[in-house]
Amino acid sequence: MDKKVYELLNDQINKELYSGYLYLSFADYYEIEGLKGFANWYTIQAQEERDHALIIRKYLLDNDCPIVLGAIDKPDKTFTDFLQPLEAALEHERYVTSLINDIYAAAEAANDYRTKSFLSWFIDEQLEEESNASDMISNMKLFGGDAKALYDLDKEYAARVYSAPTALAEE
Ligand code: FEO
Repeated sequence: MDKKVYELLNDQINKELYSGYLYLSFADYYEIEGLKGFANWYTIQAQEERDHALIIRKYLLDNDCPIVLGAIDKPDKTFTDFLQPLEAALEHERYVTSLINDIYAAAEAANDYRTKSFLSWFIDEQLEEESNASDMISNMKLFGGDAKALYDLDKEYAARVYSAPTALAEE
């Protein structure tokens, strides 16, 4: 595998694990604030981010590339209202999209068609991640000011259940 493509993919494992850490910190915030549905949503999101890391790990191992794990940064955001984590999530997902795009560009420059094909799942996933983050912001802006509506919204997010991605379910 091209050295730059390899290094970016290996780094992305760390970035995805950090995303999981970040979303766990969001879940902690909502749990303390009493919004257990939002806490559930972000706990599951953290699981999904770990899955993303494992999917990349599997791809590298399948290609006989060694995994080099680095230290995971500490999530250091503090929040003073319910909207702030949601806005931080959208900002973070846009950043992750830019990282995936950078890996894709490197794969393209290296004529690495296999990695381009592998990354197509992540490109689609990032659209979903950004769309979900954006919807959550809209919902909070629309309904967050009304206690009953916020209660219903929290119940909706409490209903989210984890399901393993196909790429890992095949293991
Ligand atoms: Fe793994 Fe939320 O992107």
